[in-house]
Amino acid sequence: MTKPGDVIEISGLNKWYGDYQALKGIDLNVAHGERIVVCGPSGSGKSTLIRCVNSLEEHDSGRIVVDGIEMIDNDSINAIRSEVGMVFQQFNLFPHLSILQNLTLGPMKARGMSKADADARAMEYLERVRIPDQAHKKPSELSGGQQQRVAIARSLCMEPKIMLFDEPTSALDPEMISEVLEVIVDLAEEGMTMIVVTHEMGFARRAADRMIFMDHGEVIETGTPIEFFEAPKTERCKQFLSQILQH
Ligand SMILES: Nc1ncnc2c1ncn2[C@@H]1O[C@H](COP(=O)(O)OP(=O)(O)OP(=O)(O)O)[C@@H](O)[C@H]1O
Ligand SMILES: [Mg+2]
Repeated sequence: MTKPGDVIEISGLNKWYGDYQALKGIDLNVAHGERIVVCGPSGSGKSTLIRCVNSLEEHDSGRIVVDGIEMIDNDSINAIRSEVGMVFQQFNLFPHLSILQNLTLGPMKARGMSKADADARAMEYLERVRIPDQAHKKPSELSGGQQQRVAIARSLCMEPKIMLFDEPTSALDPEMISEVLEVIVDLAEEGMTMIVVTHEMGFARRAADRMIFMDHGEVIETGTPIEFFEAPKTERCKQFLSQILQH
C-alpha cells in the first residue's frame, strides 16, 4: 500500500544469487523523514536489501520506487542514485586525495559545481560531522571514526534525500563507535530519511522510528523500538535479541 508521504516503496522484491534466493518477496514502505533500523542474523539479506534500493544490486522481480521514480532503466537508476547516499562498513576514501578533495570530487565531477562552491559545501559538512580541522589531511592520517565521519560527510555533499547505512560502525574500534553514531543521530534529528543496518541496539532505541528484523531473506518482524525490544512476537526474533543483547 502506497501512502502519499512514502519516499521508498518496495513491493514483492525478489533477489537471487544463482540458485540462492537472498530476498523473498520483501514489502517495505518508508515514509519521508522516517528512520528505519534493520537487524537480523548474518546472511539474512540486510545488505542485499539496502543495496537494491540504490541499485548496487540488480533485483530480479518486484517494484522499487524511490521518491516517485520507479527503478526500471538506466535513467531511473541514475536519478535514484542521485537522491540516495550510502555509507558502508569500509570507508572507501581515496587514499591519495586529501579529505577536502575526497569531499569535493563528487559535487565537481557529477554535479558540475565550481571548486569554490564545492570547497565551501565540503567545509560545511565537515563542520556537521565535527572534523573541519582535518580537511587537509590524507585519510591514513585520521582515526577510523574520523574516516567514517568523512565518508558520511562525503555522502552528504551530494545532498541526498535518503541515507542508507550498512553497518557503519562495525569496522571501528569500540571507543570510536559512539562518535560516528552521534553524527548519525544528529542527521536523524534533522529529519533525514534513513535506513540503517546495525546491531547497535542502543542507537536503535534512540534513533529508530521502526525496527525491521530479517531472517533468511524475509522481513520477519517490524515494530517500534519499544514493541520490538520489550515484546518481540516471534521466536526467531527473541532468540536473536537474546544473543546480541548479551554482548
Ligand atoms: N555477490 C553475491 N554472490 C552470491 N551470494 C551472495 C552475494 N552477496 C550476498 N550473497 C548471499 O546472500 C545472502 C544474503 O547476504 P547479505 O550480504 O545481504 O546478508 P547480511 O544480512 O547483510 O549479512 P551480514 O550480517 O553478514 O552482513 C547470504 O547468504 C550471502 O551469502
Ligand atoms: Mg551485510
